[in-house]
Amino acid sequence: MLNRFYVRERGKGKKAGGVPLVLLHGFPFAGSLWEKQLDALDDEMWAVAPDMPGFGQSTAVGKVEDATVDDYADAIAAWAKGEGIDKLTLAGHSMGGYVALAFARRYPQLLHRLVLVATKAGADTEAGREGRYKMARDVEERGAQAVVDAMLPKLFAPSAYDEQKEVVEGIRELMMNQNREGIRSAIFAMASRPDSGPGLADIDVPTLIISGAEDAIMPAAEAETMRNGIKGAQHVAIEGAGHLLMLEDPTAFNRALREFLNNEG
Ligand code: MLT
Repeated sequence: MLNRFYVRERGKGKKAGGVPLVLLHGFPFAGSLWEKQLDALDDEMWAVAPDMPGFGQSTAVGKVEDATVDDYADAIAAWAKGEGIDKLTLAGHSMGGYVALAFARRYPQLLHRLVLVATKAGADTEAGREGRYKMARDVEERGAQAVVDAMLPKLFAPSAYDEQKEVVEGIRELMMNQNREGIRSAIFAMASRPDSGPGLADIDVPTLIISGAEDAIMPAAEAETMRNGIKGAQHVAIEGAGHLLMLEDPTAFNRALREFLNNEG
């Protein structure tokens, strides 16, 4: 199959001195997760939201059990090279954050600024890894439905899950549209990811951490661990928002993002 790395792109050539903001979605979504940021930032900056390999319209990494977060970081670097981009601001949500940390380790020369959203630096525990392998088996049998059953309610703060029905249904549909190979590759990549904790001290670009105060998937302490580990990092916690904070409260999320991007070079 021909390799395809699909990106949604807005505001090319605007502000930001030719440095794009590249928004990496989490598991198991696609670049459309960031529509509310792309729309809001359209007039202000060059913003790009790829479908990570194996999700949406992008070709999978070509491995399943052996996939690594580095494969995803390499796909982004290859895309940037193909576009002639020599600096980018990377914003990664959850699994996208694991990939952003892998990118920071592998391609520090390409990184202009970093935004870590509802993510963490640590590796999986042994029990966490076993849970992922079980999920991979469930996905092999039942496809995306297995992930929807396991994750959907946990993705939102309780009030958002009850009140934002359209958003919740949109996410269910987005998850259901993802294919088994892409989902399973990402599960194995997350399970094998290294501990990025020791590398935090090496990150020397302006960094913003955004978390949802009611995130049931990423405990609040994870954001503070990253803030303490990365020199000069800022942390904004969005009250009342869960794991999908960029959708649950786009106004607060976009404000935090804008302030950081406008003030940090
Ligand atoms: C995500 O939202 O990307 C995942 O929940 C992250 C994970 O499972 O560790």
